[in-house]
Amino acid sequence: MDISTIEQAYRRYAHFYDFVFGPVFQPGRRAIIECMDCRPGERILEVGVGTGLSLPLYPKNVFVSGIDISRDMLSQAQARKERDGLDNIVQLAVMDAENMEFEDSRFDKVVAMYVASVVPDPERLVDEMRRVCKPNGMLVFVNHFRSRNRFLSTCETLLAPLSKQLGFRPDFSLDRFLDETGLKVLDIYPVNIFHFCTMVEARNNKPFIPEEEITPVFATT
Ligand SMILES: C[S@@+](CC[C@H](N)C(=O)[O-])C[C@H]1O[C@@H](n2cnc3c(N)ncnc32)[C@H](O)[C@@H]1O
Repeated sequence: MDISTIEQAYRRYAHFYDFVFGPVFQPGRRAIIECMDCRPGERILEVGVGTGLSLPLYPKNVFVSGIDISRDMLSQAQARKERDGLDNIVQLAVMDAENMEFEDSRFDKVVAMYVASVVPDPERLVDEMRRVCKPNGMLVFVNHFRSRNRFLSTCETLLAPLSKQLGFRPDFSLDRFLDETGLKVLDIYPVNIFHFCTMVEARNNKPFIPEEEITPVFATT
């Protein structure tokens, strides 16, 4: 998966995305926003906001920014904001979640809904989410991960070569995601019909250190 493949896939999806992925994945979106327990005045960032299906679910007293790499998906989100009069959605911007333009520690909570298995580099996504989130802030994910059921996981492996066409990796492993990102997990639980997806709630415990500030350690003999 690379950025131009993702843009192409979601350009195709944009006009029927809500019909196919709307109601069926809405319980997960609702659960994640409930779990965030938003407080008045908090700044929330949603990465990969897509057509903005989650936007009407946020409390009206928080400030929500949404970013997405797909201009086509984001224009649907913009139309929803205007149609529904969502004044708490303060920004919708085309931006790469793996390389964000926000300053460090800007947000109280950062959320990725059905995005971790889409981005080219999930580790880089999490590092960026950490960077723009306040220390001890909340990082929350909901995603379909590789099934633990043998039959389903075989189907997912068979579908994996079609990832570029599908616009996501069907065999995305939760264990590997947690290993590689080192997320400090507070809770994990299943959501959506047949528990098809999993929600991961984590604390932003790992301080982000820009690469140029990391002092190399040389071995002494
Ligand atoms: C499966 S959709 C999920 C959309 C939305 N979060 C939802 O709940 O329906 C994945 C979204 O992630 C976006 N995306 C993928 N890679 C991205 C990146 N590097 N930066 C920002 N958005 C990205 C896609 O354009 C797409 O809109």
